[in-house]
Amino acid sequence: MSSFLIVAIDGGAASGKSSTSRALSERFNFLHVDTGSYYRAITAELLRRNLRADQPDTVKAALPSLVFSTQVDGRAARMEICGRVVPEAEIRGPEVTASVSHFAAIPEVRSALLTYQRGQADVARTHGFRGLIMEGRDIGSVIFPDAGLRLFLHADPEARAKRRALEGRADAVAERDRLDATRKTAPLVLASGAIDIDSTFLNLEQVVEKISGLITEKLG
Ligand code: CDP
Repeated sequence: MSSFLIVAIDGGAASGKSSTSRALSERFNFLHVDTGSYYRAITAELLRRNLRADQPDTVKAALPSLVFSTQVDGRAARMEICGRVVPEAEIRGPEVTASVSHFAAIPEVRSALLTYQRGQADVARTHGFRGLIMEGRDIGSVIFPDAGLRLFLHADPEARAKRRALEGRADAVAERDRLDATRKTAPLVLASGAIDIDSTFLNLEQVVEKISGLITEKLG
């Protein structure tokens, strides 16, 4: 039997990571972890408590009270905060989208999630998945630098802004990229040794095919 494979996919805002990862998780029976949804859920919870990213001390003080656990829903891992999964409508809403990069830049917020994210590999093993596909900004560089496959998905910013507009969602894609790429802790970066995939002129199916080939090679 082939060994458990960890696939790390990083990339900028609206680069197609989520749709790609979801399709791959179905094809290969991997657990899919969207770490962006984790940062979004924490942001929603902190906003609910009236906390602000420009007051990091109060944010830091609140972090120990956030207890994380995982619900496995089909092939997707969902983070529970104090036993509650924050609804999708809330985490994809404009308020969270506008503030998430500011909260994600606070080093203590990132370290609060570090061990939890690494622990998702055990969740996948325990549930009998063949591997883990984790997407985000720092997966190949910080969370799983030893992952069996590390990919970086990029696409022209205009193409990405267009994708978001087609979804009917307000999102300052370029501004989020700027904030994510320039923060001090775990910035968005093409990790050395990661495979760079430009999806500007590829559709979802073509990206999935390309990565499927790489995964099949790794699984032997
Ligand atoms: O909207 P999109 O799917 O492109 O973004 P996301 O993956 O939902 O991530 C939302 C935000 O969370 C990003 O803009 C980053 O600020 C932050 N994030 C991060 O800092 N590190 C990660 N590993 C994942 C997301």
